[in-house]
Amino acid sequence: MIHSRIVGTGSYLPGEPVTNGDLVARGIDTSDQWIVERTGIRSRHLAPEGVSCSELAEAASRNAIDAADVDPASIDLIIVATSTPDYIFPSSAALLQARLGIRNAGAAFDIQAVCSGFVYALTVADKFIRSGSHKRALVVGAEVFSRILDWNDRGTCVLFGDGAGAVIVEASEEPGLLASAIHADGAYNPILCVPGSVSGGTVIGDPFLRMDGQAVFKFAVKVLGEVAQEVLAEAGLGTDDVDWLIPHQANIRILQATARRLGLPMTRVITTVDQHGNTSAASIPLALDLAVRDGRIGKGSRILLEGVGGGFTWGAVLLGM
Ligand code: UT7
Repeated sequence: MIHSRIVGTGSYLPGEPVTNGDLVARGIDTSDQWIVERTGIRSRHLAPEGVSCSELAEAASRNAIDAADVDPASIDLIIVATSTPDYIFPSSAALLQARLGIRNAGAAFDIQAVCSGFVYALTVADKFIRSGSHKRALVVGAEVFSRILDWNDRGTCVLFGDGAGAVIVEASEEPGLLASAIHADGAYNPILCVPGSVSGGTVIGDPFLRMDGQAVFKFAVKVLGEVAQEVLAEAGLGTDDVDWLIPHQANIRILQATARRLGLPMTRVITTVDQHGNTSAASIPLALDLAVRDGRIGKGSRILLEGVGGGFTWGAVLLGM
């Protein structure tokens, strides 16, 4: 039986950290105290002007390719999870393929599931690999959310950051990806959206992120608890079998509530939201790579990844490393 397994991770954050104090200095009507108390965020990275999603994706991918020690030419599937692509088309995955100099990869495409994007992308890659159609995938979450923020809306602009994370997933006889579940309910689209488009050379509607924060908060805590139990049940495991929980990094209070519901102490939750803010589809692979590189996650670790985001979309993946 063919399984899929992560064999290398990488990540990239652009520029220097931008602290809450830096945002206040830029004239945003907020305070370090409010942001820290309500979200746990202390700083985030913001891509310099002109730096695109595919550029961040390339840097993270090169790190993952080095860590996995694979020949880029052997990658036959490239999936980029993003809601902030370089262009309307071609996909950021195709642009990434060109940046990496990979010719004739089996397939390259983007997945648009907002903050659940990486969990969606990993689940899709697993299904491609387990079907036998593809053997080695590059799966990336990359975002420049700073480009879709209304810097006059203090309720949203302080929450997000830019960055990218990547993994190499390949066919293996040993199980790696143990269970996964992805879900969506489009009826919730108004509570988190960028309700604009381009037509006739003009932006139609609103090109900025809009959010009902409290509605998102409640929905996120509910579905993150449910989907975690769903994948654990699918794998026939319990929370005691999980070494590390890596939830989408939106707000420390969401992470704490999710851990509480699952009966996991915060000492078993990887958190980066304090340093990265919410980097949407990039947040989970960024946190995974950080914990791999600092030695918390290693061979044999069992990890539960969980995402939730606009759509609404949500999902979880249970991984053995
Ligand atoms: O990937 C999923 C993405 N989204 C999320 O995960 C967001 C989930 N939601 C949240 O994290 C929280 O709802 C927020 C952090 C967005 C907001 O926290 P809250 O505790 O729900 O605050 P609130 O929206 O109820 O606002 C409370 C007060 C308001 O003032 P008044 O009306 O009580 O006087 C806001 O105007 O806080 C004010 N406020 C701020 N004050 C200082 C809102 N944003 C700010 C700010 N700085 N940046």
